[in-house]
Amino acid sequence: MESTPRRRLNLTRTLPNPSRYAMSLEGELSHVAFSEERAPANKGLWRSEVFKVADEMPVDLEIGTGNGYHFSHRSLTVPERCIVGLELKYKPLIQGIRRAVKGGAKNAAICRFHAFNIDELFTEGEVNDVYIHFPDPWTSPKKPKNRIVNRNLLATLHRLQRPGSTLEFKTDSREMFLWALEEIAASPYKVLHQTLNLHASEYAAGNFVTFFESLFLRDGIEINYIKLRREG
Ligand SMILES: C[S@@+](CC[C@H](N)C(=O)[O-])C[C@H]1O[C@@H](n2cnc3c(N)ncnc32)[C@H](O)[C@@H]1O
Repeated sequence: MESTPRRRLNLTRTLPNPSRYAMSLEGELSHVAFSEERAPANKGLWRSEVFKVADEMPVDLEIGTGNGYHFSHRSLTVPERCIVGLELKYKPLIQGIRRAVKGGAKNAAICRFHAFNIDELFTEGEVNDVYIHFPDPWTSPKKPKNRIVNRNLLATLHRLQRPGSTLEFKTDSREMFLWALEEIAASPYKVLHQTLNLHASEYAAGNFVTFFESLFLRDGIEINYIKLRREG
């Protein structure tokens, strides 16, 4: 299978005018907020070195946390699991981890990291459940290669996840969702359930409304949702 090409990022270290958010990555939050250069040192060590928990402790992953409403909510309400967030933009990244830390969370860490480079961050079986909520849809004709839920990234995530874990994907973009369903069909994942209208479905009851989701709901947009299982 073709692997996803590595994506280059501008380095935090060499930003010409680093914002106070970018500075926080190397300052007061540096033990839980990692730049693209420091984050890979945690590979294989998330439980033992970053969270200092037993190997059995689940470590979940959220890709594209945005301002981290779901990320901080999970860390604060589910202390029996850890969570690692990936985000590209400094301001929402810092807002998310700050909210978790201020609430007393010891189980949350965040990385400025491109999702396509995920295998630089985790070893096989190091990740439990994965959340991908409202990734940028990249609907212009030449852009599907930028979509996060693609068969190459799915194959990578499947390898990194522990058997029995789940992957939850929500999007407002029907076009991208239908495209992603074909990618999912070509992946090793088992579909547990799916719907084209999450909030009119039985799955709405257990759903956490993310920041972007609240905006789409306000505009009456139906939310596409699928939950996958990484079989043993
Ligand atoms: C539309 S927002 C959704 C944020 C949040 N999940 C929510 O539902 O409110 C998508 C987020 O994904 C981030 N993102 C986009 N591409 C990414 C990538 N390749 N790796 C990590 N984060 C990415 C963006 O910076 C943006 O904050």
